[in-house]
Amino acid sequence: MTIQNSPKAEELVIVLDFGAQYSQLIARRIRECHVYCEILPHDTPAGQLLARRPKGIVFSGGPSSVYEDGAPVCDPQIFDAGIPILGICYGMQLMAKLLGGSVSAGEQREYGKTEITVLDHGDLFQDLNPRLIAWMSHGDRVDSVPPGFAETARTSSALAAMSDRSRRIFGVQFHPEVVHTPWGAEVFRNFLYRQCGCRQTWTPASVVTTAVRGIQDQVGDGRVACALSGGVDSAVTAALVHRAIGDQLTCVFMDHGFLRKEEAGQVVRTFRENFHVNLVHVQAQERFLSRLAGVVDPEEKRRIIGEEYANVLEENASDLGDVQFLAQGTLYPDVIESGTRQAARIKTHHNVGGLPETLKLQLVEPVRYLFKDEVRAVGEELGLPDDIVWRHPFPGPGLAIRILGEVTPDGLDTLREADAIIIEEIMAAGLYRRLFQCFGILAPIKSVGVMGDQRTYGGAIVLRAVTSDDAMTADWAQLPYEVLSRISVRIMNEVPGVNRVAYDISSKPPATIEWE
Ligand code: XMP
Repeated sequence: MTIQNSPKAEELVIVLDFGAQYSQLIARRIRECHVYCEILPHDTPAGQLLARRPKGIVFSGGPSSVYEDGAPVCDPQIFDAGIPILGICYGMQLMAKLLGGSVSAGEQREYGKTEITVLDHGDLFQDLNPRLIAWMSHGDRVDSVPPGFAETARTSSALAAMSDRSRRIFGVQFHPEVVHTPWGAEVFRNFLYRQCGCRQTWTPASVVTTAVRGIQDQVGDGRVACALSGGVDSAVTAALVHRAIGDQLTCVFMDHGFLRKEEAGQVVRTFRENFHVNLVHVQAQERFLSRLAGVVDPEEKRRIIGEEYANVLEENASDLGDVQFLAQGTLYPDVIESGTRQAARIKTHHNVGGLPETLKLQLVEPVRYLFKDEVRAVGEELGLPDDIVWRHPFPGPGLAIRILGEVTPDGLDTLREADAIIIEEIMAAGLYRRLFQCFGILAPIKSVGVMGDQRTYGGAIVLRAVTSDDAMTADWAQLPYEVLSRISVRIMNEVPGVNRVAYDISSKPPATIEWE
């Protein structure tokens, strides 16, 4: 059975999702105003939505036309609840249609940066300039506003914003959530603070207090296991659960042998020595390595590692004592996406780090409503060290999928040394936090080189460094030549057997971040 503790934030704003690519961004902008918000499907019944007692509701944009068959709608009773509503793009067009205005396919599509003129500064545009540059992306337009509404901003050819101040219902045609509308945060602040009466209660400290209370309520005097991977999500989860229930938590840290240099020691020290957490450190390096002997296919590597992980844990289950709960670092984007997305399976991203289903544990997921940057802020609030809080994402199967082809002890040693140099130099250049990930890959090739007067025939390391917001897309990072040069010289001088370093200049898509 799964019990999911939902945060009992004091004040909630709901984003109704009409299929926009920007719904998550809207939620993030609202939370950046220190107001808690959740995304719900557009067809959530009014009763269910109002039972959450939201202080405000935001309708997202969406790719449809409001007059198209099957276009997403909301429960119209929402308009009668007296709760402030902000409609964005499609959201505004929908409210115009449902409340008696009219919408049509505009003659001129508005896309990109567009000048708007503010006609009324009395609500969403308070304290903003009369002329502003906003980001637009729409074909349809509102031709006439519904009864009770006034036009509050226009572009040269279309309505840009409308409001019914007495009912506190507002619409904007532009996207205040994107960075190209630089004053967009002001629109959210005006809506949240002045119209909805929200206070700034969503802070890392309040998240910790609420999560701790939630965990205590759920777990009582039960016992919890948490699989630590070394990454920030499981670390913050463990630290929160530990703050809530102390010794009732046992962490399991599995060393499958594919971790980065000195990573295992660092995790064990942080949790055992600094936080005094009960920690079972399972050392299973040889088992994993022998199961991967001769395996070259990436998906097969992932499958074997996942299977072996479950086997080892089951064999060690007695070390966990009488555990009823499993703490897991599921994040909000996973929750939203598993509910909505039907993406093709490119790679099996099963997070090696879960416990076997046969243990029949109830889930405790204290960061399930947080975005990654919020998890980091909570980690800092809990006093986790910077090198755990700000660590780049690392795949569950670790270096095993960064050694192309068969994984061998020599290959692991080589890649570990090269990877450590890469991270050290990127940190020394002050670039680590600006990159989403940077790491080395050991290519299954040998090439000719010369060292002293000797011919060499050595291995090749590929350097990968990317910028990204969410790993769905990524750009190769334009690292300074001096940094590339230092990394290359150091790897070739310090890592035995490597005589070539290459830099991967592929973006995602069409490449992926990892090579396997
Ligand atoms: P790709 O390579 O698909 O990676 O562009 C996107 C993000 O996912 C990480 N990744 C994994 N994480 N298990 C994981 O837990 C995996 O098997 C796995 N494969 C890729 C990758 O590091 C990047 O952050």
